[in-house]
Amino acid sequence: MNYDVLIEKAQEAMENAYVKYSNFKVGAALLTRSGKVYTGCNVENSSFGATICAERVAFTKAISEGEREFEAIAVASSLKGFTYPCGICRQFMSEWGLDIKLITKSGDEVRVHTIGELLPEAFVEF
Ligand code: THU
Repeated sequence: MNYDVLIEKAQEAMENAYVKYSNFKVGAALLTRSGKVYTGCNVENSSFGATICAERVAFTKAISEGEREFEAIAVASSLKGFTYPCGICRQFMSEWGLDIKLITKSGDEVRVHTIGELLPEAFVEF
């Protein structure tokens, strides 16, 4: 799938974000190796630590439907600059493959990183 399409799906998913506390919407669109897309948005909670980021929502939706092989995840937010995943999401995503691509956009520039690049020396197995 074209990464521009994946970014658009992340932007659409962002609209469903439940952001009562931060008012900062994030959307994610996760592409499986078989070509299916699972979207996610951040879902906040009055107990702030219970908040779930858009990336982990997309992954948990896919994993709970039986998906195990992932190609790429696009992330979108209202930031003017690039949106990058938090540390918890980097660790969470590393479980599913350091070669998964993270797509982020600012203006007309699209950046593609692997999760491995975003989490150097990752702890993946024990
Ligand atoms: N957030 C995400 O959903 N993904 C990110 O990559 C960074 C942060 C959310 C969590 C919280 O709802 C809000 O953004 C502010 O941190």
